[in-house]
This record gives sequence, C-alpha cells and structure tokens, in this order.
Amino acid sequence: MALSFDFTNMMAGVLPHGAGIAEREWHDAAATFARAHAAVHARTGDLGFLTLATNEPLLASSLAVAERVQGRFDDVLLLGIGGSALGPIALRTALCPPRWNELTAAQRGGRPRLHVLDNVDPATIGATLDRLDLTRTLVLVVSKSGGTVETMAQYLIVRDALAQAVGEEAAREHLVLVTDPQVGALRRIARDEGIAAVEIPANVGGRFSVLSPVGILPAALIGVDVRALLAGAAHITAQAQGTELAGNLPGAFAVLQWLADTRHGRSVQVLMPYADPLRDLALWFVQLWAESLGKIRPDGTSVGPTPLPALGATDQHSQVQLFMEGPPDKTVTFVAVSGRTNDGRIPARHADIPELGYLGGHTLGELIDIEQRATAGALAARGRFNATIHIDRIDAWHLGALMQLFALATAYAGELYGVNAFDQPGVELGKQFAYAMLGRTGSEAARSEWDALPKPDPRFMITPAV
Ligand code: PA5
Repeated sequence: MALSFDFTNMMAGVLPHGAGIAEREWHDAAATFARAHAAVHARTGDLGFLTLATNEPLLASSLAVAERVQGRFDDVLLLGIGGSALGPIALRTALCPPRWNELTAAQRGGRPRLHVLDNVDPATIGATLDRLDLTRTLVLVVSKSGGTVETMAQYLIVRDALAQAVGEEAAREHLVLVTDPQVGALRRIARDEGIAAVEIPANVGGRFSVLSPVGILPAALIGVDVRALLAGAAHITAQAQGTELAGNLPGAFAVLQWLADTRHGRSVQVLMPYADPLRDLALWFVQLWAESLGKIRPDGTSVGPTPLPALGATDQHSQVQLFMEGPPDKTVTFVAVSGRTNDGRIPARHADIPELGYLGGHTLGELIDIEQRATAGALAARGRFNATIHIDRIDAWHLGALMQLFALATAYAGELYGVNAFDQPGVELGKQFAYAMLGRTGSEAARSEWDALPKPDPRFMITPAV
C-alpha cells in the first residue's frame, strides 16, 4: 500500500521559460504552512472530519444497520445532494466492479444495487421509481441539516411511493435517516415516528462527511471494506501531524496549489485521474475545493481557485488541448495507478499495419500509464504546471487515503487563503429566493428583495420563431 506525490513539474528550473514555483518560494512557504497547520490541528475538537477515521462507535452505528438489513433488499436508494451524495457516488464508482447496478444479484455477491438521487430533475426521479421494486428497496435519506429543499422534495415523493407500494406502516421499515444528532426536520421525523436514524456528528459538515455514515453506511451495504477505507484515511491523518512539508502530503498539495494560484496566476486547478473508477472522485473533489475555498475574505477581497474535473486518457481528446495551449492559468494534478501495467494484454494482430502493429504485446494498463506520463511530460515541456499522485491500486485503503488527503488539503488551503473552509454563505441568497418563490414562511424579506430585482428585458432576449 503506497501513495506518493511527485511535484517536480510544478517547479522552476524544471519547467521552461521561467515558469514554475521557485525553490525559495517553496521553502519560504514552510512558515506560513506551519501556521495554517497549527490553526487546523488546534481545532481537532470542532473539525470532526479529522477524527472520523478512528471513531469506532460511529463506524459501529453504520455496521449495525448494514448487518440488520443484510439480505432484505435488492436496491438501496440514497436521497441527498451536494456533500450528502457526491461522496457515496465516488465510493460506489471507485470500489464496486464497473456497472455495479447492471450486474446480477449473484455477480454482486448478494449485495444490493445503489442508486443516488443527487438532484430534483423529475425525469430522473420518475424513471428511477418506475424501475425500482420498492417492496425490496431500502431508502437512505441523507441530510446533515435535515431540511435541504432538494432532499426534502425527494423524500416526500419517495415516502409517498413507498407507502403506496408497501403501506404506511411497513414503509417505515424501508427508511433510514442519516442526519444531525439533534436538529432538523429529519431528526424530528425519526423521533416522532420511530424511524431508524444514524447520526452525522454535529461537527462534520456536508462535503467533509464522506467518512461518516454519509459514505460509510451505503458503502457497507454494497460490500465495501469500510475498515480499510478508514485505515487509509487514518494513515494520511497520522502522517499529517508533522508540520514539515516534505512529510505532509496534504500540506504539500495545498501549499503548491495556493502558491500556483496566488503567485503564478494558476487559478484553474484540474484533477485528472487516469482511471475510470476515479472519475467521480474528481467531481467530489470539485465540490470540496470550490465550496470550501471560493469565498470573500474579511478584508472584502474575493478569493478561490476554480477546480475542474478531467479524465485521462479520455480528455486527451478534449480538454488537454486547452491545458496545453490555452491560457497558462492552470495546474493539472494527475492521479496515476501504477499497479495494473500487466492488465489487458493487446493481441498482436495486424502486425503489418503500422498504426496497429506497435500495440501488439503491450497491455492496456501499460498504455494508460504511458499516456499519463506522456501528457505530464508534454505539459511540462510547454511550461504547464502539473503534479502526479501515484497510487499502487484502486482499493478501499487508497481511496480513503486520497479522500482524507484532499479533505485535509482543503482545510489547510482555507487557512492559507484566509477564509473559513467550512461554511458556504454564498449559496444562501439563491436558497432564500427559491424559498420565497415556493412560499416558505419566514422568507418575506427575500421575497421583497426578489421582487425588486430587474426582470428579463425583451431587448435582451432572443426567441427564434419556429
Ligand atoms: O458541503 C456542504 O455543506 C453542502 O454541499 C451540503 O452537503 C449540501 O448543501 C447538502 O446539505 P445537507 O447534507 O444538509 O442536506
């Protein structure tokens, strides 16, 4: 089990044309990082994500539910959005065999399929409910606040459908509410109706919650080795106790991205795994980085890097053109998987056709690995900042390690940028406007503000005749 970080291609002297972070800058950042590190670790009591990996009672709460329901359901339907959905999706994509939901029960080892409704598009929800046998479906309603509008709308629809399928009484046995220990509508429903509920610790926020029951419960249900997942995360947290950047991988990642953004104009920060199972990890990272760091500082300045997901080798035929020759405003962090270079032997057919002949005898694992290294080298040759996180293989341990790496890096980056990485005040106004339009009590002030906004102006609208 190993994970390493190669940031050679971020550095001056390696990159041409004077591009790159100077060794002096990197060393000078050590003192700033030490302060950021101290600020984060001093808050271990109220930053619950730091101790999720070693919280045995919390793990036990998910395992108890998983054990109780084992064998009773063919499908798990998870309702949630944002941090309550992206983590479970990333875990399923990375740690279940490809196309998990299309496999037979025998191929899934008797484990259920996992569907995540991470939006309120009626077409998706309608189609999902049409396909599910609700008499054999367990519904996890996941919301830290216990009142998020999208999740509540999903819940109301699914609860109704469940009641119709199995009856009001039995519907309760199909529900598990994953929410705050004290507050919110879901907690109240759990209390009032005696519905099973699992706690998200009060000091763990949505996008930092993947290693709480938010991710651990669905992962345990579909057979992921959740202990290994937590062990990987615990390894990274232990390693990050040191303030030395050379030994603190999340710290090094945070400092390099921050320097690249604030000193070198590299404000677009791409995460590009070269592995299909890590595709959704990039989407999970995007939310974590964007919602945590895009903020107004106390001095009134707006800061924050713009994260961008990509996938190798697929994006070599898409975004890589932009990364190579577009504005030099990006960093690219690859995730490369070293331990599969012997996988997928390519047959030596058409040896006489030059476009095919050279491939015979190589493997797909080798091809994707070489393509990653080639892209990193090509970017570096053009002065484009990039770095590579190497992992041995994609398994629960490495995924836990990667997720904790990015979570810790986000906390450090919040300190480096001088913002609170754990709130999201910027999403409030839109939420209030939506409440106002939906007629929620208490949103009268938002209604007045909404009504005072300029309305669509026909001079600036185009409606082609059909
Ligand atoms: O990271 C966050 O805090 C948010 O993205 C939340 O996860 C999202 O808004 C959903 O919130 P909740 O889990 O309270 O329903």
